[in-house]
Parts: sequence; structure tokens; C-alpha cells
Amino acid sequence: VLSRYREVRDLTDRLAAPLSPEDQVVQSMPDCSPTKWHRAHTTWFFETFVVGEATYDPRFSYFFNSYYEAVGPRWSRAERGLLTRPSVETVAAYRRHVDDAMATFLAGDVPDDVLEIVELGLHHEEQHQELLLMDCKHLLSRNPEDGTYVAGELPTGGRTPKLTWTASEGGIVGVGAGPDGFGFDNERPRHDVLLAPFELADRLVTNEEWQAFVDDGGYRRPELWLSDGWALVQAERWEAPLYWLPEGEFTLRGVQPLVSSAPVCHVSYYEADAFAHWSGARLPLEAEWELVAASRSVAGNFLDDDVLHPTGSESPFGDVWQWTASSYSPYPGFRAAPGAVGEYNGKFMVNQHVLRGGSCVTPRSHVRATYRNFYPPAARWAFSGVRLARSL
Ligand SMILES: [Fe+2]
Repeated sequence: VLSRYREVRDLTDRLAAPLSPEDQVVQSMPDCSPTKWHRAHTTWFFETFVVGEATYDPRFSYFFNSYYEAVGPRWSRAERGLLTRPSVETVAAYRRHVDDAMATFLAGDVPDDVLEIVELGLHHEEQHQELLLMDCKHLLSRNPEDGTYVAGELPTGGRTPKLTWTASEGGIVGVGAGPDGFGFDNERPRHDVLLAPFELADRLVTNEEWQAFVDDGGYRRPELWLSDGWALVQAERWEAPLYWLPEGEFTLRGVQPLVSSAPVCHVSYYEADAFAHWSGARLPLEAEWELVAASRSVAGNFLDDDVLHPTGSESPFGDVWQWTASSYSPYPGFRAAPGAVGEYNGKFMVNQHVLRGGSCVTPRSHVRATYRNFYPPAARWAFSGVRLARSL
């Protein structure tokens, strides 16, 4: 456990390393958090839920508690960028302090239920590793100087490969995580759902296909859009995915040429749904996606591959999180865990949609066929894209 703990903690610091202290403090929009805050908050999680007391500075719980009402009051989410103090250096010292406390703690006789919280803390930190990259991408995209996170070439790709489909008869199928192994509470309990015959696309929607949607007036035709989505298109003057530019696409490797055959990325649920309408298909249900993905191994383009941008593969996993038509709701029989960690997922189960599959900035070890990510339908700063489905 200690070696996995060190590995996960070390990766967070390596992801932060290309960023200057100035980069690590600024918050570019209320949904995003500064890198420094992610580094401190993930540390606070172990200190609060495993060590069980504030060992470094009692004020840090107020600064770095995210949303746990049961733990106490906290600094406002939208104003995390105002926390110029404590400094990046102090946060690094806080990390080292809690890592030492955790090493001592894990060397002792740790009961199973506490080991489960350590495991939760590690998966929590992996979630924040992805958030750190999503948030710093948004921040750097707004910088008039060079917004490169790390330099490097991206694969150039070719033409969009022909679209093929995997058909399924559906029927009564089991979905969700079984009792064994790690899973977040929102993946449980495993249960049966009834699916009509369907087919799921074997690859993601590509930039070339999205360009055809744009060229066909996709962002100017209200008949393609949900009402809330159409209102946003007009209010925000959306004309293309979030990071498309006249000269290419903003990536974590700076502005790069748009690769036709690469999966489209940084689209909202509204855009994904409008595209699906336009193309004569629909978004998959989360159970449809899971049924197909559960028979495949977790392969594809993840954070471990260090590309940091979608490239496309034949796997249902990796590259981009895929919007599903399923709203984020509790599974039948869902029960939140007792205590403060019960606030982890359950209280967010409204007004959001489920995304599946993991992305090029998700650690591979973090992804499972049963994994349920979720965002509000207007969100597009996540590495989110589209895989189509059709009813048979
Ligand atoms: Fe968190």
C-alpha cells in the first residue's frame, strides 16, 4: 500500500512540475481550481480521513476542504484563486509532512476499513491528477503568451477510418460493480437492466466529422438542439469545440494543427447530442456502453502514454470521456457510505450526465468498464467526446 501511495503522490508532483508558482495559483473560471489547491486538497483528504487530525496547520481544513459539510466550513470554491497564501512552497512542505505521517501510519497495524479509505484517497488523487491537467489547460489557453504545458509533437494521423459498429441483442443484462475490488459507491450495487437491440460505434467521432457538422450549419440550426443547449449556443456564441482556433487547436502541447482523424474533444453534452441528431444516430445509454466495454480489456490512450491529447484507437477506453444519454442517478439500491465520505458522490446525483471510458489525461489504473464519470451538460473543459449508438 505504501509503495502505491508513494507512486500516486509522486505523479501529482510530477504533473505540477512544468508549472511555475505563478501558474499554480491562478483560477481561470469557477469550475477550475489552481494546481496548488489540487496539491493541497488531495493532501488534506489523507490528513482528514486517514490520519484523522490536522497535523500541519489547523487552518488548512478551511482552505482545502472541497465540499464536505460534515467536516466543517470552507473557503468558497469560486475564490480558490485568491489563496495566494499559503505559498506553493508551503503546500509542498504540507505534502511532505502528511506523506511522512502516512508512512508512519501505514507501517502500523491498519484495520481493513481504514485501508479502504486509503484506497479511496488514492483514487481521489488520481481524479485530481486529471482535474489538474484539465484546469491548467483551461488556464494556459487563456494566456496571450505561449500556453504550452509541455513541448512535444503530436501524431499527425491520416483520414478518418471507416465507421463500423458492434451490434448487441440487448436483453436483461447486469451492470455496475460487483462486491469485490475497488469501485466508487456510485458504481454499486450491480443490478439488471433491460436493453433493446442496439449497436455501438467502434470508434469515436473525429474532428473531420465534426468539421462537416460545423460546415453544415450545425451550430446555427435550432432543430438539432435541446432548448437549453440552443440558448447556450447563442449566449456563448459557440461555433466549434472549446479549443478549436482558426489556426488549429489548443492542446497541452500548445497550438497544434487540427488532426482530421483524431477524436473530437472538449464538447458539451448539448453539442454531443446535437451532433448525434445531425448524424442520424444517438448517444449511447451508459448500460449499452458498459455491456460492450465489459467484454474488452482496458487499453487505449491514457495519461501513462504521455501524449496528453486524443489520437484514436479501436478500444472503447481512453482518448476522451464519452457522453452518454444517461442522467447521473443512483443505481437501484444505492446507499452512500456512512460518515463524511458518504458525501463523495451521492449528493451530486442530479442535473448531470454520465460519461464513460476515461481519457488521454486519466491514469490507466483509474479506469474500469463500470466507472461512471459525470459533468453538467454545459461543461466542456473536460476531455469529453462522442461515441455514437443506434437502435436496431
Ligand atoms: Fe476532491
